[in-house]
Amino acid sequence: MLCLDLSEKRALITGSTRGIGRAVAEFLAKSGAKVVITGRDASRAEEVAEEIARNYRVETLGLAMNLGEEGSIREAYSKVEEKWGGVDVLVNNAGITRDKLFLRMSPEDWEEVIRINLTGTFLLTSLAIKGMLKNRWGRVVNLSSVVGFTGNVGQVNYASTKSALIGFTKSLAKELAGRNITVNAVAPGFIETDMTAGLKEELKQEYLKNIPLGRFGKPEDVAGAVLFLCSDLASYITGEVLHVNGGMY
Ligand SMILES: NC(=O)c1ccc[n+]([C@@H]2O[C@H](COP(=O)([O-])OP(=O)(O)OC[C@H]3O[C@@H](n4cnc5c(N)ncnc54)[C@H](OP(=O)(O)O)[C@@H]3O)[C@@H](O)[C@H]2O)c1
Repeated sequence: MLCLDLSEKRALITGSTRGIGRAVAEFLAKSGAKVVITGRDASRAEEVAEEIARNYRVETLGLAMNLGEEGSIREAYSKVEEKWGGVDVLVNNAGITRDKLFLRMSPEDWEEVIRINLTGTFLLTSLAIKGMLKNRWGRVVNLSSVVGFTGNVGQVNYASTKSALIGFTKSLAKELAGRNITVNAVAPGFIETDMTAGLKEELKQEYLKNIPLGRFGKPEDVAGAVLFLCSDLASYITGEVLHVNGGMY
Protein backbone atom coordinates (compact mmCIF):
# COMPACT_ATOMS: atom_id res chain seq x y z
CA MET A 1 0.00 0.00 0.00
CA LEU A 2 1.28 3.50 -0.79
CA CYS A 3 1.73 5.14 2.56
CA LEU A 4 2.76 8.67 3.45
CA ASP A 5 0.88 8.45 6.73
CA LEU A 6 3.07 9.46 9.66
CA SER A 7 0.34 9.71 12.25
CA GLU A 8 2.03 7.59 14.92
CA LYS A 9 5.32 9.43 14.51
CA ARG A 10 7.10 12.14 16.50
CA ALA A 11 9.41 14.32 14.39
CA LEU A 12 11.99 16.96 15.28
CA ILE A 13 13.14 19.37 12.58
CA THR A 14 16.04 21.70 13.36
CA GLY A 15 15.81 25.25 12.01
CA SER A 16 12.09 24.93 11.36
CA THR A 17 11.01 28.49 12.11
CA ARG A 18 11.33 29.42 8.42
CA GLY A 19 12.67 28.35 5.03
CA ILE A 20 13.14 24.70 4.12
CA GLY A 21 12.82 23.49 7.73
CA ARG A 22 9.43 25.08 8.13
CA ALA A 23 8.16 23.57 4.86
CA VAL A 24 9.41 20.16 6.02
CA ALA A 25 7.63 20.58 9.36
CA GLU A 26 4.40 21.49 7.56
CA PHE A 27 4.62 18.50 5.19
CA LEU A 28 5.28 16.11 8.08
CA ALA A 29 2.43 17.63 10.09
CA LYS A 30 0.11 17.40 7.08
CA SER A 31 0.97 13.69 7.00
CA GLY A 32 -0.10 13.39 10.62
CA ALA A 33 3.23 13.53 12.49
CA LYS A 34 3.63 15.40 15.75
CA VAL A 35 6.36 17.96 15.17
CA VAL A 36 8.95 19.74 17.28
CA ILE A 37 9.77 23.17 15.87
CA THR A 38 13.17 24.54 16.81
CA GLY A 39 15.23 27.66 16.22
CA ARG A 40 17.39 29.97 18.28
CA ASP A 41 14.47 31.97 19.63
CA ALA A 42 11.94 30.23 21.90
CA SER A 43 9.02 32.59 21.27
CA ARG A 44 9.43 32.40 17.49
CA ALA A 45 9.57 28.58 17.65
CA GLU A 46 6.47 28.49 19.88
CA GLU A 47 4.60 30.81 17.52
CA VAL A 48 5.33 28.59 14.49
CA ALA A 49 4.50 25.45 16.49
CA GLU A 50 1.11 26.91 17.50
CA GLU A 51 0.34 27.88 13.92
CA ILE A 52 1.15 24.39 12.64
CA ALA A 53 -0.92 22.79 15.43
CA ARG A 54 -3.89 24.96 14.44
CA ASN A 55 -3.55 24.36 10.70
CA TYR A 56 -2.94 20.61 10.72
CA ARG A 57 -4.53 19.51 14.00
CA VAL A 58 -1.46 17.72 15.29
CA GLU A 59 0.43 18.06 18.56
CA THR A 60 3.44 20.34 18.32
CA LEU A 61 6.21 21.67 20.52
CA GLY A 62 8.17 24.88 19.98
CA LEU A 63 11.61 25.02 21.57
CA ALA A 64 14.76 27.10 21.51
CA MET A 65 17.64 24.97 20.29
CA ASN A 66 20.87 26.67 19.27
CA LEU A 67 22.94 24.11 17.40
CA GLY A 68 26.07 26.07 18.17
CA GLU A 69 25.70 25.35 21.90
CA GLU A 70 25.84 21.85 23.31
CA GLY A 71 23.97 22.94 26.48
CA SER A 72 21.10 24.31 24.42
CA ILE A 73 20.85 21.10 22.37
CA ARG A 74 20.78 18.95 25.53
CA GLU A 75 18.31 21.18 27.33
CA ALA A 76 15.88 21.25 24.39
CA TYR A 77 16.12 17.53 23.76
CA SER A 78 15.48 16.72 27.41
CA LYS A 79 12.23 18.72 27.13
CA VAL A 80 11.22 16.58 24.13
CA GLU A 81 11.95 13.43 26.12
CA GLU A 82 9.98 14.76 29.07
CA LYS A 83 6.92 15.50 26.90
CA TRP A 84 6.98 12.79 24.26
CA GLY A 85 9.65 10.30 25.37
CA GLY A 86 11.81 10.95 22.28
CA VAL A 87 11.40 11.15 18.51
CA ASP A 88 11.02 8.72 15.60
CA VAL A 89 12.09 11.13 12.89
CA LEU A 90 14.98 13.59 13.00
CA VAL A 91 15.53 16.10 10.22
CA ASN A 92 18.91 17.80 10.60
CA ASN A 93 18.01 20.87 8.59
CA ALA A 94 19.46 23.96 10.29
CA GLY A 95 22.57 25.31 8.65
CA ILE A 96 24.35 28.62 8.26
CA THR A 97 26.69 30.26 5.76
CA ARG A 98 29.56 32.65 6.47
CA ASP A 99 30.70 33.20 2.90
CA LYS A 100 34.15 34.62 2.25
CA LEU A 101 36.98 33.96 -0.18
CA PHE A 102 39.34 31.45 1.37
CA LEU A 103 42.20 33.95 1.72
CA ARG A 104 39.96 36.17 3.84
CA MET A 105 38.32 33.39 5.82
CA SER A 106 39.14 33.65 9.53
CA PRO A 107 39.42 30.69 11.89
CA GLU A 108 36.20 32.04 13.49
CA ASP A 109 34.33 31.91 10.13
CA TRP A 110 35.52 28.34 9.71
CA GLU A 111 34.82 27.20 13.25
CA GLU A 112 31.31 28.69 13.54
CA VAL A 113 30.07 26.97 10.39
CA ILE A 114 31.62 23.63 11.38
CA ARG A 115 30.18 23.90 14.89
CA ILE A 116 26.59 24.63 13.83
CA ASN A 117 26.32 22.61 10.60
CA LEU A 118 28.34 19.59 11.63
CA THR A 119 29.05 19.30 15.35
CA GLY A 120 25.49 20.35 16.22
CA THR A 121 24.19 17.63 13.92
CA PHE A 122 26.48 15.08 15.55
CA LEU A 123 25.41 16.05 19.09
CA LEU A 124 21.68 16.09 18.43
CA THR A 125 21.71 12.89 16.38
CA SER A 126 23.48 11.01 19.15
CA LEU A 127 20.69 12.02 21.56
CA ALA A 128 17.79 11.43 19.16
CA ILE A 129 18.74 7.95 17.95
CA LYS A 130 18.61 6.45 21.47
CA GLY A 131 14.82 6.07 21.37
CA MET A 132 14.90 4.92 17.73
CA LEU A 133 17.35 2.16 18.65
CA LYS A 134 15.00 0.99 21.38
CA ASN A 135 11.94 1.07 19.09
CA ARG A 136 13.76 -0.50 16.16
CA TRP A 137 12.34 2.11 13.82
CA GLY A 138 13.72 5.48 12.85
CA ARG A 139 14.37 8.02 10.15
CA VAL A 140 17.23 10.50 10.02
CA VAL A 141 17.41 12.95 7.12
CA ASN A 142 20.35 15.35 6.80
CA LEU A 143 20.29 18.50 4.70
CA SER A 144 23.41 18.63 2.57
CA SER A 145 23.75 20.87 -0.51
CA VAL A 146 24.71 20.75 -4.16
CA VAL A 147 27.84 22.73 -3.24
CA GLY A 148 29.02 19.78 -1.14
CA PHE A 149 29.39 18.00 -4.51
CA THR A 150 30.42 20.82 -6.83
CA GLY A 151 32.26 23.21 -4.51
CA ASN A 152 31.58 26.95 -4.69
CA VAL A 153 33.63 30.12 -4.63
CA GLY A 154 33.40 31.78 -1.21
CA GLN A 155 32.05 28.67 0.51
CA VAL A 156 35.05 26.56 1.53
CA ASN A 157 33.71 26.36 5.10
CA TYR A 158 30.07 25.73 4.19
CA ALA A 159 30.79 23.28 1.34
CA SER A 160 33.13 21.32 3.62
CA THR A 161 30.29 20.77 6.09
CA LYS A 162 27.89 19.77 3.35
CA SER A 163 30.33 17.18 1.91
CA ALA A 164 31.05 15.94 5.42
CA LEU A 165 27.35 15.37 6.01
CA ILE A 166 27.42 12.86 3.14
CA GLY A 167 30.16 10.83 4.86
CA PHE A 168 28.22 11.17 8.11
CA THR A 169 25.02 9.95 6.42
CA LYS A 170 26.57 6.98 4.65
CA SER A 171 28.56 5.78 7.67
CA LEU A 172 25.72 6.16 10.16
CA ALA A 173 23.36 4.42 7.73
CA LYS A 174 25.60 1.34 7.86
CA GLU A 175 25.80 1.41 11.66
CA LEU A 176 22.05 1.77 12.22
CA ALA A 177 20.60 -0.37 9.44
CA GLY A 178 20.44 -3.43 11.67
CA ARG A 179 17.97 -1.58 13.92
CA ASN A 180 15.69 -0.56 11.05
CA ILE A 181 16.80 3.07 11.20
CA THR A 182 17.42 4.68 7.82
CA VAL A 183 19.79 7.62 7.40
CA ASN A 184 19.64 9.60 4.17
CA ALA A 185 20.58 13.02 2.86
CA VAL A 186 18.82 15.54 0.68
CA ALA A 187 21.03 17.87 -1.33
CA PRO A 188 19.12 20.95 -2.49
CA GLY A 189 20.31 23.19 -5.30
CA PHE A 190 19.30 26.86 -5.29
CA ILE A 191 16.20 27.28 -3.11
CA GLU A 192 14.42 30.60 -2.50
CA THR A 193 14.75 31.24 1.25
CA ASP A 194 16.34 33.88 3.50
CA MET A 195 19.65 32.09 2.96
CA THR A 196 19.73 32.97 -0.74
CA ALA A 197 17.64 36.18 -0.62
CA GLY A 198 20.69 38.40 -0.11
CA LEU A 199 22.63 37.17 -3.15
CA LYS A 200 23.31 39.69 -5.92
CA GLU A 201 20.83 39.63 -8.81
CA GLU A 202 23.62 39.10 -11.38
CA LEU A 203 24.85 36.07 -9.50
CA LYS A 204 21.31 34.66 -9.31
CA GLN A 205 20.91 35.06 -13.06
CA GLU A 206 24.22 33.22 -13.57
CA TYR A 207 22.97 30.33 -11.41
CA LEU A 208 19.64 30.30 -13.26
CA LYS A 209 21.39 29.69 -16.59
CA ASN A 210 22.62 26.37 -15.20
CA ILE A 211 19.25 25.12 -13.98
CA PRO A 212 17.63 23.04 -16.75
CA LEU A 213 14.16 23.28 -15.17
CA GLY A 214 14.49 27.06 -15.59
CA ARG A 215 13.53 28.18 -12.09
CA PHE A 216 14.84 28.32 -8.57
CA GLY A 217 13.50 25.74 -6.14
CA LYS A 218 10.92 26.42 -3.45
CA PRO A 219 11.15 25.09 0.14
CA GLU A 220 8.22 22.79 -0.72
CA ASP A 221 10.28 21.14 -3.50
CA VAL A 222 12.75 20.03 -0.86
CA ALA A 223 10.09 19.16 1.73
CA GLY A 224 8.53 16.62 -0.66
CA ALA A 225 11.82 14.75 -0.91
CA VAL A 226 12.28 14.76 2.87
CA LEU A 227 8.73 13.53 3.45
CA PHE A 228 9.29 10.69 0.99
CA LEU A 229 12.45 9.59 2.83
CA CYS A 230 10.60 9.68 6.17
CA SER A 231 7.71 7.63 4.87
CA ASP A 232 7.19 3.89 4.51
CA LEU A 233 7.66 4.31 0.76
CA ALA A 234 11.37 4.73 1.44
CA SER A 235 11.82 1.92 3.95
CA TYR A 236 14.41 0.12 1.77
CA ILE A 237 16.48 3.25 1.05
CA THR A 238 19.41 4.11 3.32
CA GLY A 239 22.76 5.86 2.97
CA GLU A 240 21.40 7.60 -0.12
CA VAL A 241 21.50 11.19 -1.33
CA LEU A 242 18.49 12.66 -3.04
CA HIS A 243 19.42 15.65 -5.22
CA VAL A 244 16.71 18.31 -5.51
CA ASN A 245 18.17 20.92 -7.84
CA GLY A 246 16.16 21.29 -11.03
CA GLY A 247 18.78 19.33 -12.92
CA MET A 248 21.72 21.68 -12.26
CA TYR A 249 23.86 18.76 -11.02
N1 LIG B 1 18.44 27.78 0.47
C1 LIG B 1 19.21 27.07 -0.32
O1 LIG B 1 19.40 27.40 -1.51
C2 LIG B 1 19.87 25.82 0.19
C3 LIG B 1 20.59 25.07 -0.73
C4 LIG B 1 21.22 23.90 -0.31
C5 LIG B 1 21.15 23.53 1.01
N2 LIG B 1 20.45 24.28 1.89
C6 LIG B 1 20.43 23.82 3.29
O2 LIG B 1 19.10 23.67 3.73
C7 LIG B 1 19.02 23.97 5.12
C8 LIG B 1 17.95 25.02 5.35
O3 LIG B 1 18.30 26.18 4.61
P1 LIG B 1 17.34 27.43 4.45
O4 LIG B 1 17.67 28.03 3.13
O5 LIG B 1 15.95 27.09 4.78
O6 LIG B 1 17.94 28.39 5.59
P2 LIG B 1 17.35 29.69 6.26
O7 LIG B 1 16.22 30.24 5.46
O8 LIG B 1 18.52 30.57 6.52
O9 LIG B 1 16.76 29.14 7.65
C9 LIG B 1 17.65 28.62 8.57
C10 LIG B 1 16.92 28.01 9.74
O10 LIG B 1 17.90 27.55 10.66
C11 LIG B 1 17.70 28.19 11.91
N3 LIG B 1 19.00 28.49 12.51
C12 LIG B 1 19.92 29.41 12.14
N4 LIG B 1 20.99 29.37 12.96
C13 LIG B 1 20.74 28.39 13.86
C14 LIG B 1 21.46 27.88 14.97
N5 LIG B 1 22.63 28.37 15.35
N6 LIG B 1 20.89 26.88 15.68
C15 LIG B 1 19.67 26.39 15.36
N7 LIG B 1 18.95 26.83 14.33
C16 LIG B 1 19.48 27.83 13.59
C17 LIG B 1 16.87 29.42 11.64
O11 LIG B 1 16.02 29.69 12.72
P3 LIG B 1 16.18 30.96 13.70
O12 LIG B 1 16.62 32.13 12.90
O13 LIG B 1 14.81 31.08 14.28
O14 LIG B 1 17.20 30.52 14.69
C18 LIG B 1 16.02 28.96 10.46
O15 LIG B 1 14.86 28.30 10.90
C19 LIG B 1 20.42 24.41 5.54
O16 LIG B 1 21.13 23.33 6.09
C20 LIG B 1 21.05 24.82 4.24
O17 LIG B 1 22.44 24.70 4.28
C21 LIG B 1 19.81 25.42 1.52
